[in-house]
Amino acid sequence: MELSFLSLTLFFFTTMAEGVHWPEHVVCSSPHFQLSYASCDPFQDVGFTLNPCTDLHVQSEFNSTISLLLQHSIEELYLSLDLLHGDQKLLHYDEYLCLHHLPRFPFCGRKKGELINHDWPLKIKSIPFKGLFNIWIQLLNQDGYQIACANVTLIHD
Ligand SMILES: *[C@@H]1O[C@H](CO)[C@@H](O)[C@H](O)[C@H]1NC(C)=O
Ligand SMILES: *[C@@H]1O[C@H](CO)[C@@H](O)[C@H](O)[C@H]1NC(C)=O
Repeated sequence: MELSFLSLTLFFFTTMAEGVHWPEHVVCSSPHFQLSYASCDPFQDVGFTLNPCTDLHVQSEFNSTISLLLQHSIEELYLSLDLLHGDQKLLHYDEYLCLHHLPRFPFCGRKKGELINHDWPLKIKSIPFKGLFNIWIQLLNQDGYQIACANVTLIHD
């Protein structure tokens, strides 16, 4: 009895986890620079825009916006990023975006249920690599809850 309940629960969670597939969003589609992403969070999609969407050889300054609904408060917010090229991990990067005593962004301290719409000026120095890259980005709060997760594909040649 207990065993069948457990397997049913497992089946349910597995089905749920596999059932959630957020759409792939194409952010940029210019000849030498393509950027797309999909949310890898089971509970929500995330919005991202980049302007202008031109060749990285020509442009190095961009305006980006990030939109997401908070499922948990973010007194603290922790960013974790992996840059992958094929099977190779080129870079792992961890950073605090919000700390209690060091709120680096206006959204730090926002509560569950609030919508974040943040304009983020980006400076991208020319990328020394060419090809297809996957970037895995995760945001965690002070209690280890996932705030957002995105799987980014970047093609640069
Ligand atoms: C970013 O936005 C600001 C304000 O709207 C604008 O003045 C600036 O030219 C934009 N930068 C780029 C690179 O488009
Ligand atoms: C997500 O990551 C997988 C590899 O882990 C990749 O095959 C897929 O294209 C990625 N999707 C997006 C939208 O970045």
